[in-house]
Amino acid sequence: MSRIISFAWLLLCAAPATAQTGLNKKTERAVDSVLRLMTLDEKIGQMNQYNGPWSATGPLTNDGNLLDQVKSGKVGSMLNVTGVKRTRELQELALQSRLKIPLLFGQDVIHGYRTIFPLPLAEAASWDLAAMEASARVAAKEASAAGIHWTFAPMLDISRDPRWGRVMEGAGEDTYLGSLIATARVKGFQGKGFGDTSAVMACAKHFVAYGAAEGGRDYNTVDMSMRRLHEVYLPPFKAAADAGVATFMNSFNDLNGIPATGSKYLQRDLLKGAWKFNGFMVSDWGSIGEMINHGYAKDNREAAMLAANAGSDMDMESRSYTKELATLVKEGKVKMSVIDDAVRRILRKKMEMGLFANPYKYADLKREQDNWDNPEHRKIARDIAQKSMVLLKNEGSVLPLSTKTSSIALIGPFVKAKSDHLGFWSYDWPDDTARISSIWEAVSRKMGGDSKLLYAKGAAITGDDRSGFAEAIEKAGKAEIVILTVGEARDMSGEAKSRSSLQLPGVQEELVKAIVALGKPTVVLISAGRPLIFNWTADHAPAILYTWWLGTEGGNAIADVLFGDYNPSGRLPMSFPRAEGQIPIYYNHYNTGRPAMHDSDKFYRSAYTDLSIYPKYPFGYGLSYTQFEYSPVSLSAATLRKGQTLRASVTLTNKGKVAGKETVQLYIRDLSGSVVRPVKELKGFQQLTLAAGESRKISFDITVEDLRFYNEQLQYIWEPGAFKLYIGKDAAHNNEAAFEVLQ
Ligand code: GLC
Repeated sequence: MSRIISFAWLLLCAAPATAQTGLNKKTERAVDSVLRLMTLDEKIGQMNQYNGPWSATGPLTNDGNLLDQVKSGKVGSMLNVTGVKRTRELQELALQSRLKIPLLFGQDVIHGYRTIFPLPLAEAASWDLAAMEASARVAAKEASAAGIHWTFAPMLDISRDPRWGRVMEGAGEDTYLGSLIATARVKGFQGKGFGDTSAVMACAKHFVAYGAAEGGRDYNTVDMSMRRLHEVYLPPFKAAADAGVATFMNSFNDLNGIPATGSKYLQRDLLKGAWKFNGFMVSDWGSIGEMINHGYAKDNREAAMLAANAGSDMDMESRSYTKELATLVKEGKVKMSVIDDAVRRILRKKMEMGLFANPYKYADLKREQDNWDNPEHRKIARDIAQKSMVLLKNEGSVLPLSTKTSSIALIGPFVKAKSDHLGFWSYDWPDDTARISSIWEAVSRKMGGDSKLLYAKGAAITGDDRSGFAEAIEKAGKAEIVILTVGEARDMSGEAKSRSSLQLPGVQEELVKAIVALGKPTVVLISAGRPLIFNWTADHAPAILYTWWLGTEGGNAIADVLFGDYNPSGRLPMSFPRAEGQIPIYYNHYNTGRPAMHDSDKFYRSAYTDLSIYPKYPFGYGLSYTQFEYSPVSLSAATLRKGQTLRASVTLTNKGKVAGKETVQLYIRDLSGSVVRPVKELKGFQQLTLAAGESRKISFDITVEDLRFYNEQLQYIWEPGAFKLYIGKDAAHNNEAAFEVLQ
């Protein structure tokens, strides 16, 4: 290491691990000492991120001399390079550069690395913040052991449109739940803080409102009021910033006519200004160059200028910065202060991660091996997989199944699936076939072997081949119980996977009809990365369990729930539409001047003449193997003033025969405001497990601060007036009380 850098290192040695918020003076001095040594080219190099030469997550630009550029300090970060061997190899190259500034390795560790966890949307259905933090913690441990410094997660895009394939990656439709999950995931990924070798830098993405793409079409236009932006889409990002997230990633979409990548308002005024964010912004793959397609930049040079001046600090894969920035600085179109600010932010994170002190601190072969097959990680994965499933129906208590069942027919395209359980944004390992239990294997273990099991695939996921129906009907006809697996393939939800139809693909629902017609106790398992539409199945199948894609332990967790070893507790993080025509559909909508209160409202109603006004399943919905009863809501007072606390309580009773976990949800409605207000807003929830017959009082404390919203002037305020409050099992449960807020 050169003498100069070791000086910076000495400065840093005494520097305590930087807290996730605020700046450390010693770090800043070290950053400045390095910055002063850098040429313009070396500074621009830090703002340049390339995909590694092995695998890609976007359209690659093969310009050949990637490794030479690394060696000459023209690359500050790489993505899609994993494993101690490969990261060390590239780090050694980077340290041959004049200033030996270490590389940052970034990776889409969205829901696990070696141990794959449930899709983020599935985890959101657990409503278990501690479990989601633990999931991110394991992902960070495994990723950091594999030489990864930085994950491009959590994805924080609120979405009310399941046609958008990336709903699988987020936390669903609700801002309050999404903000809490943002905090939990950032804390999980960043652990004890930068510099701890089990921590990775997190990345709040995609900034912002990517989930509101028109028509649910990926990368599509977003246009909304600033009030809606601040009310619905920004809060999870603010929560991540407040939790000390290291980086942000901007989004592909244009927002109100300005591509997010080129938005000064978003990146400088709001994020780095009002929110005082001291990390750095990376562009999404190629999004700087894509401003030409947007019609916002006439060429790459203008794109580079707009993005840099707007606050995009690092260029992922568009090559605009490495090709154009030097000229722009010389022409005075991009000030050196803009470059210095971006580079300072990037160097700051590298120093906080300890990479200047030891560029190889994450390249530890023994730690990689120790974390490669950790049984504790799989236990944590199985735990949250159990908690993520949502029981949608259980007529006649078909579930839970008994291991004494004489015979079970397992029918459908996912019965023997293995890697499908990993879902999108995951990693397939050569030994997955041995590591992942299929539903067939997991049920067989519960039943003590295959002797009582019958199998037929019945149908493929897509296509119109019905030739497998006969065998499926024959096998189901012989069994006492039928387990039928249907759904979408693991890669049918995800990036660039928007769909106009959300029906069960292919002829799967016909298969369901054929099997249900046998009149056997039938459990339908639905695998998906998003809300699907399956009205006939919902109305006719006796039992339905929504299993999403649950990761490495998915098969085992499904069997645990099927046989009652875990009583399902998941609650939907998105409303399920009855038809694509209902989309966007979400619970916290405005009332309108002609609200439709009931399906029977025939005239002047804000609804369709040909469809119910209600979703098939509401936000927050989910059943249990037991039954919970809510008492009416009691309030500690009928009015509330600033400085006071209103306590709302219910008594919850487990009326069933088994213990169960309930997610008690608090919603509030402001009946009249200076702007119209949603008919309900989630403002709290508590999870508790009650034994059979047990009752417990649950209380929520409310202050006027909980009632704030953005008014017409974008002020975050509360207002006096009449309110309603609901404590119940989901967004459709009207267990209500009224109170008044006084000035
Ligand atoms: C992709 C995604 C983004 C991801 C990045 C790197 O296009 O939009 O979420 O982190 O590229 O793979």
